[in-house]
Amino acid sequence: MSELRRTPIKQLLSEGRAHPSVTVQGWVRTRRDSKGGFSFIELNDGSCLKNLQIIADHTLASWQELQAKIHTGACLEISGELIESEGKKQSVEMRAGELKVFGEADPEHYPLQKKFHSLEYLREIAHLRPRTNTIGAVMRVRSRLAYAVHQFFVDRGFIYLHTPIITSSDCEGAGEMFQVTTLDLDKPPRVDGAVDFKEDFFGEKTGLTVSGQLEGEIYAMALSLVYTFGPTFRAENSHTSRHLSEFWMIEPEMAFYDLENDMDLAEEFIKYLLGEVLEHCHDDLEFFNQRVDKNLLTTLAHVKDTPFEHIDYTKAVELLRKSNQKFEYAVEWGGHLQSEHERYLAETVFKKPVIIYDYPEKIKPFYMKMNQDGKTVRAMDVLLPRLGEIIGGSQREDDYEVLKSRFDAKGIDPKEYWWYLDLRRFGSAPHSGFGLGFERMVQFATGVENIRDVIPFPRFPKHAKF
Ligand code: 4AD
Ligand code: MG
Repeated sequence: MSELRRTPIKQLLSEGRAHPSVTVQGWVRTRRDSKGGFSFIELNDGSCLKNLQIIADHTLASWQELQAKIHTGACLEISGELIESEGKKQSVEMRAGELKVFGEADPEHYPLQKKFHSLEYLREIAHLRPRTNTIGAVMRVRSRLAYAVHQFFVDRGFIYLHTPIITSSDCEGAGEMFQVTTLDLDKPPRVDGAVDFKEDFFGEKTGLTVSGQLEGEIYAMALSLVYTFGPTFRAENSHTSRHLSEFWMIEPEMAFYDLENDMDLAEEFIKYLLGEVLEHCHDDLEFFNQRVDKNLLTTLAHVKDTPFEHIDYTKAVELLRKSNQKFEYAVEWGGHLQSEHERYLAETVFKKPVIIYDYPEKIKPFYMKMNQDGKTVRAMDVLLPRLGEIIGGSQREDDYEVLKSRFDAKGIDPKEYWWYLDLRRFGSAPHSGFGLGFERMVQFATGVENIRDVIPFPRFPKHAKF
């Protein structure tokens, strides 16, 4: 294999040592010409937030010609001497010896000039926005979080499971499915007027998964501890700052865990992820702390170090009803808690993360374990200040007869879930799990307001362009 010429800028800055000859490759953020016969080039290669400052002497070979090509956005390779910097801003800087332009960026047309760009505008140039400080920092934090997810579970003996993306089973209640079909939409085959899915690619109606949970349960009933981490799809017409049509979800599923064990794992998981980014993404988080949310670092440390509050749904409703807060949606026992209610509890009442458990069975899916009271199920949601729900989970119904009656009560044909019932027929075990929305975690960790800015290519209603 031929050797790479490049040394990442992150490495040069963190080592902070002079070096007679190094090569860097990256994109110009700015160029500033000084009267003293040299130019300062700020080069960024995405390995870290900081740029490397490069000093180009105007006596360099063919400088005149190069100068015309070195603008914001141009891609360069520069070799030279690394010297300890006199300026406070960086540990080292480079004296350019040799400069090569890989690609120019005409300043007349390159959209990312120095001035401030709104995140809304940047979404329209999703192919260029990775070159901004904000999106670069988000993606480094996101990548570290993804790595930490695997570390967390692997360290605890979990098996990483890939559940299918195309599925014929809807994880009932989780959300609307996108359909997957190869039928001709203009003239689909029909029997008795209805579309004949027997003629479709898979011989039945299929869609993109809304959750890997049910498949996770299958494997937990053999491997004990499993987790999924993959894309999930919901065809809801949501236009909020917390919903995407395509998002990534982490779903652990644990045999022999009850709801208390489940809640404990969820809390430990969130704290672990925050600990990892606080330790490894310092510069990027510092940037968000300055630019996006002045309390970010304090909030993250607080959530990492404070025990979460646990209250049951009934108590939550009581607190909300007793409060003098004006809510858009009234609170009633038996109804869904809205995001305004969730945030009020986490932000105003408890000022820390809250886990709400034991929800009314009527508003929850068939698979959640029924409580003794016959009215509530062993469900839990983890709510974070500023964000609201980040995790939804439950202990699963493991009793064959009870589960069957739940299908009946919800008007679901148990025949469609014969395999799910089989898990309760053969070697059933108490088990629990939860799902954490990965993008919501990235949002929380970075303080970025809109979920569309924490995924490389956001998908939301009327938007699936590159
Ligand atoms: O609460 P949800 O719907 O739970 C499930 O899907 C269960 N099957 C999980 C399980 O028990 N294994 O979704 C879980 C989490 C939510 O708490 C939220 O963080 C995130 O997934 N989420 C979304 N994130 C972005 N965009 C959307 N449209 C989301 N819908 C849910
Ligand atoms: Mg939920």
